[in-house]
Formats: sequence, C-alpha cells, structure tokens
Amino acid sequence: MEKGKLICTCMDVYESEITKSIKDNKLLTAEEVGDVTGAGTVCGECIEDIEELLRKSK
Ligand code: FES
Repeated sequence: MEKGKLICTCMDVYESEITKSIKDNKLLTAEEVGDVTGAGTVCGECIEDIEELLRKSK
C-alpha cells in the first residue's frame, strides 16, 4: 500500500496510517489519532495536518 506523505516526523507516522486508523476506529479528533497512532504526541507540529486529514475523511 502507498504510504503517502510523512505526516508526523517525531513518531514516523505516514498519511495512509492516519487515514486508515481514522476510518477503522471512527476517530474524530487529533487527540484520538494521537492515542491510536502516536502521531502528534511529541512536538505537536503535525496536529494541523492531522486535522486536515480528519476533515478530508468526513
Ligand atoms: S511531528 Fe508529529 S509530534 Fe512532532
């Protein structure tokens, strides 16, 4: 599977992983994405990108 863009450089989490976990777990917030994937839990710089993916997945 195509990994897509590297979203979270701190935790090494790619776009496809985030999109998949949003779908599979019906995640609604960046915080929930952090709980499941670890993305956004370190420096927080990728939170905006995660929120963008959440908006796109609606
Ligand atoms: S880039 Fe995602 S927490 Fe730092």
